[in-house]
Amino acid sequence: MSFIITTPLYYVNDKPHLGSIYTTLICDSIARFKRLSGENVIFITGVDEHGLKIQRTASNKGVDPQLHCDEISNIFLQSWKDWDITYNKFVRTTSKTHEYFVNEFYRRVKKSDDIYMGVQKGWYCVGCEEFKDNPDNSPTYKCPIHKKNLEWKNEENLFFKLSKYQSQIEDLISQPSFIQPKERRNEIINFVSKGLNDFSISRTNVSWGISVPDIENHTFYVWFDALLGYVSATSLDDKDTSLQESIKNGWPADIHLIGKDILRFHAVYWPAMLLSAGMEMPKKVFGHGFLTREGQKMGKSLGNVLDPNLLLSKYGKEAVRWYLLKDITLGSDGDFQNKRFVDIINNDLANTIGNLLNRTSSMSRKWFENRVPNNENLNKDNTLELHSNETVANYKKHFNSYELDLAANNILNLAINTNLYLNEKQPWILIKDEENRSLVSTIIYNVLESTRIIGLLLLPLLPDLSSKIDHQLGSLYDDKKSWNEQLNWGKLKPKSILPVPNPIIDKLEYE
Ligand code: MSP
Repeated sequence: MSFIITTPLYYVNDKPHLGSIYTTLICDSIARFKRLSGENVIFITGVDEHGLKIQRTASNKGVDPQLHCDEISNIFLQSWKDWDITYNKFVRTTSKTHEYFVNEFYRRVKKSDDIYMGVQKGWYCVGCEEFKDNPDNSPTYKCPIHKKNLEWKNEENLFFKLSKYQSQIEDLISQPSFIQPKERRNEIINFVSKGLNDFSISRTNVSWGISVPDIENHTFYVWFDALLGYVSATSLDDKDTSLQESIKNGWPADIHLIGKDILRFHAVYWPAMLLSAGMEMPKKVFGHGFLTREGQKMGKSLGNVLDPNLLLSKYGKEAVRWYLLKDITLGSDGDFQNKRFVDIINNDLANTIGNLLNRTSSMSRKWFENRVPNNENLNKDNTLELHSNETVANYKKHFNSYELDLAANNILNLAINTNLYLNEKQPWILIKDEENRSLVSTIIYNVLESTRIIGLLLLPLLPDLSSKIDHQLGSLYDDKKSWNEQLNWGKLKPKSILPVPNPIIDKLEYE
């Protein structure tokens, strides 16, 4: 059994923005957590390359669309490398394999008698690649997301019989686990209750797309094409590619993680398409919130877009990961504030976790010949052991229900409690009396052990910081052995050498 997690396939009209990095980082953390928990993960990401929006972007630049797509796709690939994204499959919808899948899928849907020719009239947003309501039927009405005029379309298109799947979709979305978070689920229930309309799946005015077999001048609607990327991805490397092959490789997806703006496509259109093709529906669609900057919507026209590359080079990926994953509840909107960012990184990572490790390791080195002390009367003092066990259990529960912020806070609370323990015990006073030596050794052992667990729990969230902590504790983590097993209390080896402490993260300065 595989655990399949997907990011949206990003439009290649531009390089990645903070929103795309945000979704991808969340998926990366979940994928890392699931792998560490022993699951066989297929983490799918990639790019959505066809359609009017991309055709126009390339034509405005005066370049061939394929060259444009190659250029931007490479930027995405480089960016995923820079951010250390541990994806397993990167889909490009201009690949031959993908085209093959779209054709095969279309044949299946046609066989189910779900395709017919009709006339599509309506107001279209090229930015969203979606027909929109235009309350006044006015040519100056702007898409609320892209703030650009809608375009009137009136053309012959192929239609997909979405309406046929009304009751099956109702059943699906009535399951509380299918759409998360709850508020988003209610939006979709409301939308579906108004009655589903068939939607058009081909275009006659877009040459940059996959040709519909046997129908001249028609290319597939970009969403009908792109959603299939999730399926073609599970089979991309195979010679014998077919939908059947994808199913064998673990389809359906366990979770599609997407932004709230594209929920309808994933939670309504996509499941119906899969039903029609006789394939299983995804198990969960999770719509995350939107990021704003200092309380304002980010946009090119506002000139306040936050360049993720700039953040990366200025603060490093661990700081950005921690802020986005710990400070924003998955599903809610989030705001990027520079002051808050600096405060959180300094408080949580540099002071609470970093200092704890540094000062304990320094004490241990000073009093116990540069080594981890013995845990002589460990059983008499199990305060931290209990805290740690409870933390591990809560953290896993939260991670498994995609509450990454709560999981991160569990780690932070363990660090806070460990600091409190140290301050209460005051080993620096006890050590003055030789009689207390074994008591001090136990206190220090407990604190170092708790720090080891903190480091291990950070692994899916902040992989680099986690390995720095591990290094400071004498490189104990063994990636060939079970992570779960290593989370058990008491694995820190007494007498093992502690290297000279180094700060695990630099303190940040305000702008
Ligand atoms: N190509 C489609 C997805 C097809 S999936 C088969 C698409 N691409 S996109 O590049 O426009 O958007 C990708 C994701 O970025 C969406 O999930 C969208 O919600 C998200 N975001 C765009 N702006 C965002 C923020 N400001 N904040 C957070 N996420 C945002 O849609």
